Amino acid sequence: MELLKTGIIGLDDMILGGIPKGHIVAVMGPPGTGKSTFSLQFIYTGLKNNENCIYLSLEESEENIIKTASIYGWDMKPYITNKKLALVNLSTLNFKSTIDRVENELPNLIKLFHGTRFAIDPITLYEMIHDSEPERRNHLFNFARLIKETGITAVITSEISKENPFYSRYGLIEYIADGVIILRQVRPADMSAVTTVIEISKMRHTDHSKEVKPYNITKNGIVVHSGDEVF
Ligand SMILES: Nc1ncnc2c1ncn2[C@@H]1O[C@H](COP(=O)(O)OP(=O)(O)OP(=O)(O)O)[C@@H](O)[C@H]1O
Ligand SMILES: [Mg+2]
Repeated sequence: MELLKTGIIGLDDMILGGIPKGHIVAVMGPPGTGKSTFSLQFIYTGLKNNENCIYLSLEESEENIIKTASIYGWDMKPYITNKKLALVNLSTLNFKSTIDRVENELPNLIKLFHGTRFAIDPITLYEMIHDSEPERRNHLFNFARLIKETGITAVITSEISKENPFYSRYGLIEYIADGVIILRQVRPADMSAVTTVIEISKMRHTDHSKEVKPYNITKNGIVVHSGDEVF
């Protein structure tokens, strides 16, 4: 089984080397826990490995994505120039029709581009365009199938549910995904500091770690302290 390293120190150990090729992995967490950083780190690791990558942002402009990445020391510009990275920003104007267009073009783009890594940050806006649960479920299911058929390996970030931090906003993506990674903030009883922790709640075909591990966002991106205990 071919594995794609996330490039996140400690995490690749927890999943025994990397994300199995062709998997869709959902990365979920509350605001500021590093979802965008995670997706950028996954893409940048691919670019460093001479892979072709596609990054679809539903929130940030292309300029902002490049800036965020550069703060971590990841220079995306040469890869865009050399056509190794396709940065796609979905404008919130006419969101529905833009999504239709992207869906129509995506399989071809992935094929022509020989893309091996795909990231969407975050999927939540995509889900919000529907008012009813069946519509949302159908759309997400079809979208996942479309991605799966291309054979690309994908990281899809998601906001979490307000009621339960172990579920995504709409509670759908975790069923569609082959892997689910949960980012969380925990506070000690004395409320002295916040610790960010990561856990893998699912990774198909992998005897992954079931432990909860602390992580930090550093100037070089996310670092998981897989040797440390939280509890
Ligand atoms: N250079 C840095 N060094 C250390 N920590 C940083 C640095 N840059 C950003 N951070 C941390 O990363 C957090 C933002 O991470 P990121 O944008 O990836 O989170 P997110 O989950 O995508 O947030 P949102 O839900 O708002 O989209 C900041 O709140 C800060 O704690
Ligand atoms: Mg973000």
